[in-house]
Amino acid sequence: MDKAKRTAIIAGNWKMNKTPKEAVALLNEIKPLVADADCEVIACVPYVDLAAAVEATAGTNIKVGAENCHWAESGAFTGEISTGMLKEIGVEYVVLGHSERRQYFGETDETVNKRTKAALAAGLKPIVCVGELLWERECNITEEVIARQIKLDLWDVTEEELKNVVIAYEPVWAIGTGKTATADQAEEVCAFIRAQLAKLYTQEAADGVTIQYGGSMNDKNADELVSKLNVDGGLIGGASLVAEKFAAIVKAASK
Ligand code: 13P
Repeated sequence: MDKAKRTAIIAGNWKMNKTPKEAVALLNEIKPLVADADCEVIACVPYVDLAAAVEATAGTNIKVGAENCHWAESGAFTGEISTGMLKEIGVEYVVLGHSERRQYFGETDETVNKRTKAALAAGLKPIVCVGELLWERECNITEEVIARQIKLDLWDVTEEELKNVVIAYEPVWAIGTGKTATADQAEEVCAFIRAQLAKLYTQEAADGVTIQYGGSMNDKNADELVSKLNVDGGLIGGASLVAEKFAAIVKAASK
């Protein structure tokens, strides 16, 4: 498979950072720096920033994503946000199953799967996050963990729907720790994810899926990571909050 046939995506995951005003200021800084990007550029921002972010990026090459969504269309789910609410304000992507949701908010593969299916049904593109804990890597079960997450998180997702799914491989031990997976480690697991997708769907379908790496990716290490055959971009936390650093990563993925 020619890597160039897949869309490379650099997405910022702002997590719980930036007020609406700060979000607009940061996007205004980022806009000119990524205007000639040869990859897809996304800013996944807190719910309350979404409307301002959509407005601030209108007519640019930056797309906007949310950081979660609920599976029900509406109802008694205090504190949750539906796919319809996101669609109405012009959101295109949604991060699902991030390890921080799994670790701190009881997210399970079952709820990730429900959210993924709801997002797809609504026409949102989910960025489904998978990754092993340090303990799991040390116990040599990284592949088992990833295979299970891929199978469960994408349960009942059709081959047609898979075209709108992005996978982010985020080893939990590399998130916010400054500890990056080596490019070879990232490639190994991203290739494994693609092989799992080929088993569950077809090789052709698997070859078309964008698989990002995430975990302390920055302006210094992005070049090497995204040069790997199965690493199709990145999901960036800390470095996405600094315009120049984020733009440098976008540049690395545009080569
Ligand atoms: P950092 O880039 O801050 O390690 O975060 C990665 C991440 O969790 C992106 O979703």
